[in-house]
This record gives sequence, structure tokens and C-alpha cells, in this order.
Amino acid sequence: MTRIRWFGTNWKMNKSPQTAREWTTAVGTYMAEMPADQRLFVMPPYPLLPQILQDTKGTGLIVGAQNCHWVTSGAFTGEVSPQLLKEIGAHNVLLGHAERRKQFGETDEMIGRKASAALRVGLGVVLCIGEDASIKDDPATTRSFLEKQLSIALGDIPALAPEQLVVAYEPVWAIGVGADPPAVYEVAEQLRVIRHVVDQIVNEHVPIVYGGSVTLENGPSLLTETVADGLFIGRHALDPAMFIRIIQTAL
Ligand code: G3P
Repeated sequence: MTRIRWFGTNWKMNKSPQTAREWTTAVGTYMAEMPADQRLFVMPPYPLLPQILQDTKGTGLIVGAQNCHWVTSGAFTGEVSPQLLKEIGAHNVLLGHAERRKQFGETDEMIGRKASAALRVGLGVVLCIGEDASIKDDPATTRSFLEKQLSIALGDIPALAPEQLVVAYEPVWAIGVGADPPAVYEVAEQLRVIRHVVDQIVNEHVPIVYGGSVTLENGPSLLTETVADGLFIGRHALDPAMFIRIIQTAL
């Protein structure tokens, strides 16, 4: 069976309509020649979704939001429902990112409700999990922490369509400016644990991607020397040429 490789990027609170268009144009050129066993996804800020969905129609680029609520509609100022994302044509949604957990107080239970709601309206979900620096060097604690995050977030999901769910392992200590790019030995065992736990919970092959300071230098080993099915890239994929180079170098 062909092993699908996944490469995604979360733009966080970056880019404008103009720089988004430059990015999708460059990545569209790569995708026109892309082998069939690759999947590329991008998570822009909400207001850029319609433009990007329109500009990339027919290219195969998977376009998703960075968050959603778990209810359909109502008095939730500043929130966006999974139904609305589905209606505007978004393909998937990122849930449980470490920045939302830390800065906006999202709990595993909230993320579980969001995952259940998003999957039930037919959106794909990229579910982020990961331990922080305080437990990083304690394998048993890290293992049970990751198991708990997964079992709560995936505790009430419906039967999945193929490729509807992706799990992103993003150790908090490895994310963002100032973080040390991780070496393979620091994340390989956690990826194996996640593979094992996800296989026990979900009755469908769920791709697992690694995220957190992925670079041109560590991308190849993070992909080929671990059980990861792909890479999830933040700041180093804002430049489309670098995103494409990381993909090409890692394969
Ligand atoms: O969601 C991806 C992200 O958190 C990784 O960010 O900048 O460390 O690659 P970065």
C-alpha cells in the first residue's frame, strides 16, 4: 500500500491577502507536478479562507481554519461554528493547538467537543497534542499525558471517513521562536506511543504528523527516522519557497 506523506502549515496570525496569494501561487506551481502520494494542507487566519479556497480550487490543496466552536450557532461573540466553515467550503480545522490551550484556556474536554462537532459536520480535523517542558524528560509521565490528551479528544468521535482525521504531535517545548529544533531521539518514542494509542482508539488509519521547529535541516530525519507520516510546519513555511524545499528535502 502506498504510504501517503502529509505536509501542512499553520500560518497562525500571519499574512495578508497579498502575501497569501503569493504563497498559494507558488505552492500551486509545485502541486501541479506533485506526486499522488502527497497531501498538502494550509491553515490561514479565518478572513483569508474564502480567497484561498477560491484561488486554489482544483489544486488538491487542503485548506482549513485554525479553530472552531462546538455549537452550531448562537450568542458566542468572536467564535465560528464548524457548520459555517463547512458551508464556506473549508476542508478541515485545526484543534487543540498548544497556543490555544495556553493562551485561551482550552481544555482537553473542550477540544473533544470541538473534534466531535467538526467531524460530525464532515470537516477534517487536525488534532494537536503534546507535552510541555516540565515533563519532557520523564517518559512515563509524558506517555500518560499524551494518552490522556488523545483519549479525551477522541472520546466521542463518529465513524471517520478516510483521511478525515490527522493527529499532530507538537511538543510545547519545541514550538516557535526561541525553541530548540528537536532532534529525532527527543521525539521518536513519543511518536511511537501516539501511533499505538491512536490505533487502539480509532478504527481507521490516522496519519500522524510531527510539528514544532521543523526546518530544512531536521525535516528529513524527523520524517524518515520516525513513524511520522508527515511534517507540520509553522514559521519556516511562511515563505512558500522554503515550504517546498523542506518537502522536497524531506522526501
Ligand atoms: O502548528 C505548527 C506550529 O505550532 C509549529 O510552529 O514555528 O515551531 O514550526 P513552528
